[in-house]
Amino acid sequence: MQIIHTISELRDLVSAYKKKGKVIGFVPTMGNLHDGHLQLVKMALAQSDIVICSIFVNPLQFGEGEDFEQYPRTLDADADKLDKVGCHIIFSPAVDEMYPKSMGGGRDQTQVSVPGISDILEGASRPGHFTGVATIVAKLFNMVQPDKAVFGEKDYQQLQVIKRFVRELCFPVEIVSHPIVRESNGLAMSSRNGYLSTDQKQQASALYHTLENLKKKITNHSSKKTPLEYYAMIESNAIENLNSQGFVTDYLTIRKADLTMPTGQERNLVILVTAYLGNTRLLDNIKISF
Ligand code: PAJ
Repeated sequence: MQIIHTISELRDLVSAYKKKGKVIGFVPTMGNLHDGHLQLVKMALAQSDIVICSIFVNPLQFGEGEDFEQYPRTLDADADKLDKVGCHIIFSPAVDEMYPKSMGGGRDQTQVSVPGISDILEGASRPGHFTGVATIVAKLFNMVQPDKAVFGEKDYQQLQVIKRFVRELCFPVEIVSHPIVRESNGLAMSSRNGYLSTDQKQQASALYHTLENLKKKITNHSSKKTPLEYYAMIESNAIENLNSQGFVTDYLTIRKADLTMPTGQERNLVILVTAYLGNTRLLDNIKISF
């Protein structure tokens, strides 16, 4: 496995592999890798010849007062894990390589913004976040030139944002999604779980149990209420319930698969939740087909 830090080295490697006709798979990450990330890498390995994993904590997607400084940077441990699963290349650039000061740094450069979907849910709570994500992913796609890129359903809205700009800006890359990888207690794996105490990790699994419970309720719904009345009722009960267990819920919402509001007629829905436990922002979702 090779670890490279510059765009020019990356381009040389990629063009040599492309000349040989190799299929390039790509997994972008911010590092501090857990089994969820590694499952994405394994999926990329199964579908391509050469797998590149990027590790870059992207300042552009963090808002003021968020955890950019605090975000764990663990390159050596990450490299060991990636080597063990058979990843071929790690691309781990410095901030100045991705957003050169000579070009004005991140926020004064060209950015990719995806209207509508970037302004709701996570985007409403974290203004500018998805523009930061779309910009860095577009830049990485131009550097890596992957045939396929794997993203986790854990960040469901991020996945929709990426699919949109790839389609609308005609990037020649296939977006592959991987289901959420969970701890044995149901908690969705996340680098931010490292901020939780042992007790909080146990407590945090309530998010998943809440989603499972709502999924059952929707699938078996037989009350006299209309679907929309029923969704509104179970959403607000679930929020109350989470808040009474010590969470501060930012949103818990039942949506169509494209994240617009349901009409009550859909058979495919997704429930998304974001809640704080202490200072840690936790994100989870569950898909429903019935
Ligand atoms: P990061 O949070 O490191 O996640 C990298 C990838 O791993 C994303 O596609 C994310 O959805 C996926 N992932 C994280 N936890 C997962 C889990 N428990 N199960 C399945 N997939 C999981 O997402 C980002 O980084 C950044 O926004 C990035 C796309 C790299 C742009 O900076």
